[in-house]
Amino acid sequence: MQRHWLDKERRLRPENRFGAEPAPGAEREETDLQGDPRDVLCPQEEKRQAFQWQQFTLGVCYYPEQWPEELWAEDLQRMKALGISVVRIAEFAWTVFEPEEGHYDFSLFDRFLELCAEAGMQVIFGTPTATPPAWLTEKYPEALNADIHGHLLRHGARRHYNYNSPEYRRLTAGIVTALAEHYGQHPAVIGWQLDNELNCETDEFYSEADHLAFRRFLQEKYQTLDALNEAWGTRFWSQTYTDWDQVFGPRPVVPGGENPHMLLDHSRFVSESCLSFAALQTDIIRKYCKPGDFVTTNGMFSNLDNHRLGQEILDLFTFDSYPDFAFARDRGAADERDMKDRRWSLRLTKVRSVCPHFGIMEQQSGPGGWTSCMEMPVPRPGQLRLWALQSVAHGADFISFFRWRTALFGTEIYWHGILDYDNRDNRRAAEVAALAKELEKIGALCGANFVSSFALVSDYDNEWDARHDVWHRRVAEHSEKEIFAFAQKNHVPFDVLDLRDETDIAALSRYPVLLYPHPMIMTERRAALLKEYVEGGGTLILGCRSGLKEVHGHVVMLPQPGLLRELTGTDVREFTFVHPDEETDPATPLFNDVLEVTGDAEVLARYRHSFYRGEPCLTVNRVGKGSVYHLGSAFSGEMLDKIFGHAGAQSPFDRLVSAPEEVELVMREKDGRRFVFALNYTDRDQTVFWKRPVKSLHKDAPMVGAQVLPPFGVEVVELRYERYNRLI
Ligand code: GAL
Repeated sequence: MQRHWLDKERRLRPENRFGAEPAPGAEREETDLQGDPRDVLCPQEEKRQAFQWQQFTLGVCYYPEQWPEELWAEDLQRMKALGISVVRIAEFAWTVFEPEEGHYDFSLFDRFLELCAEAGMQVIFGTPTATPPAWLTEKYPEALNADIHGHLLRHGARRHYNYNSPEYRRLTAGIVTALAEHYGQHPAVIGWQLDNELNCETDEFYSEADHLAFRRFLQEKYQTLDALNEAWGTRFWSQTYTDWDQVFGPRPVVPGGENPHMLLDHSRFVSESCLSFAALQTDIIRKYCKPGDFVTTNGMFSNLDNHRLGQEILDLFTFDSYPDFAFARDRGAADERDMKDRRWSLRLTKVRSVCPHFGIMEQQSGPGGWTSCMEMPVPRPGQLRLWALQSVAHGADFISFFRWRTALFGTEIYWHGILDYDNRDNRRAAEVAALAKELEKIGALCGANFVSSFALVSDYDNEWDARHDVWHRRVAEHSEKEIFAFAQKNHVPFDVLDLRDETDIAALSRYPVLLYPHPMIMTERRAALLKEYVEGGGTLILGCRSGLKEVHGHVVMLPQPGLLRELTGTDVREFTFVHPDEETDPATPLFNDVLEVTGDAEVLARYRHSFYRGEPCLTVNRVGKGSVYHLGSAFSGEMLDKIFGHAGAQSPFDRLVSAPEEVELVMREKDGRRFVFALNYTDRDQTVFWKRPVKSLHKDAPMVGAQVLPPFGVEVVELRYERYNRLI
């Protein structure tokens, strides 16, 4: 049974909350509160985006084209009164700007921007390419996206275009140039948003233009048909291509029989297409915008290398955070490991790995819903603030709410903004105003770095392989939930580390522990990097099916875990999905690689079920100055507890604060000052216990000992940290 972290008697030592005796040598130096936190913890990398907020800033999404003009000035004044100083506009207004091809009309937005300038309201300007006008798609149907059957997705919703149509790219360049030329020097504009939520709604593209572009992508990648045939394993089922004209992206085939290597390349292709569409717009905007104005886009979606998008194309990454989805009647949390609205912290962690100091372009401010789907309740008192501070805790320095006032027409009449249809001040507006004041109080935290105990490693090859490979997907999804729930409940904060062949060893070495759950695809370069990391003293944790495939998704003809077997010191001869007819062991769920020790690896646990009962399921191997843990199954809380305990992993909170599982703890650090967030996601009081004196940033008051967090309550404290400052 998993040890409860509060169960002091059963702890092996006060600093180790996990369920196993630390391995000899695994104990690190004790966290000395008077020492430098960098000794044992890993504040996030100092890598900064080109754009940095200087202070916490509140914004809101506004659609002047949807409201009578008489309301604009008053709306801006009311926003300012709540503490909002930025509006995001225009991302769906193509028809307003270009009612007919080549005829531009900027008058409506000119008038609105003039009011913004007068009111001192700053503007993030959206390019409207998510909503091509009816005249465009009727005249150029090749611009439309299609479903897998080739049926065009017609005008009438949004994001109905494809990234590869030459006509659509030309028309996109046209509207973006016109807008950037016209508004690039406007004093109210501070930044630009590309499109809206790239790859949202659908991340699959099957238009004619996409098939042709996919073919070109493959020609460039493989040069010869032989190389393509080899990479896609087309000798299987006589799929061999003898002419490039026979090569297409996914088309309807006998269901379930798709070539997996083709699907993997298609994900890579969709990502490239999206990146090139984003780069097309960015290059234009940069020609016309003021120095210092940023280019961003909103959201983080699949089939897209968000790291390259964030780091190579944008100046700032912004995310759209809608934790109320956790309570949607039609999309509810599947099980307890999902952690409801708290699981948005995992998404925010992924965003932080792209951009350490990001923004939230759309932060939920009201109940959500489309008329066709999605039924969400109103955020309960305190939840709007909780969710906004959840974003801040994880690295957001800018929070812009979606949206100012709920639409009176269209698909989103149930997707509520801060204000309701009646336009009166309300509880949610009061919560925004209070939050604005609070952000001033905790202003010292702006730009502070997140402090983590380990990194969860991910890479796009495996993410996309898991999208198409059901064996892979099942373990990957299960383990991600377990790891997140374990880390949250035990207060072991983590970063996500994006691993690619070019990754530097320095990026890995910042973390004492790397958890790389199921790297089924493994390359020589990445295996060498992991080896260097471990030899240098790092702890690497791997789960089942690691090292099974090479980069095209072919299985390697090697004893498992393939290229990683030297590191793990194990071999796998028997492997199986947990048999549905057998009693299962929740400690070793879903898939079991039965481990055999080949060298000096030590067995830490054995299977307790099936015909391989008594065989090793968890081992540790010393390599150089470090260790490699190999778990034969998907991850469970019990096994994570064992591994982290054995590895002597530490939490930055160990001797500072104790909190129940229901509360999320986050630490951020800046110029030697450390701050802790305690976030209560429940509708009940929760008590945290400050073991050292701390200063509440909300109350400007020192405190120590028990503190009750009210339902949905959040506390932010600065730690007393004598070496740097004397607060108390
Ligand atoms: C976001 C989108 C917004 C709005 C919102 C509510 O995904 O960017 O435009 O649609 O969801 O549905």
